[in-house]
Amino acid sequence: MKATELLKQQHGEVSRLFKAIEKTDDPAEKKSYFLELASNLVAHDGIERKIFYPACEEAMGMDDLLGEALVEHGVVEFSLYQASQALGKDDFEYKCKVLKELVEHHVEEEEKEFFPKVEKALGKDKLESLGEDLDEAFQEERENDWQEPLFENLRQVLAGVLKTVPEEETQPKAKVSGKSRRTA
Ligand SMILES: [Fe+2]
Ligand SMILES: [Fe+2]
Repeated sequence: MKATELLKQQHGEVSRLFKAIEKTDDPAEKKSYFLELASNLVAHDGIERKIFYPACEEAMGMDDLLGEALVEHGVVEFSLYQASQALGKDDFEYKCKVLKELVEHHVEEEEKEFFPKVEKALGKDKLESLGEDLDEAFQEERENDWQEPLFENLRQVLAGVLKTVPEEETQPKAKVSGKSRRTA
């Protein structure tokens, strides 16, 4: 599957989970949908930031759309952190709503503006092989705890880092998982 199609599919799953969270009044169900959402969002963030965006930068250079996307990932992560801290409390609903709106904005820009440019720049073969790498890395990331990578990413955002990837995780082909991911 093409990288952009795979990422769109993941956006669809995230949107489905937001709807499920909104729809249920059962606290246990709400929590379970939110934890599934958080795991999906952190894994999606990881594969885009570590594999997909660097491939885009290699093909297209560091343009404004890519810079904007990277900044938005940091904002989404902060909002995800806020919502996760409010889980089970009164302020969860509006914190989750802000998260949903931020994600929707980011996804819309990605799908309408960024992906069409990327598809032209990368070409069919590269999109297919990148799609395989992304899929594999996503499955691996989903097996790990999502909180530790989220906290680590937020530490980097607060330190002013836009796109740094820990060195051991870039070898040999931008592996997403790392030792630290299993310690949370
Ligand atoms: Fe993104
Ligand atoms: Fe995305």
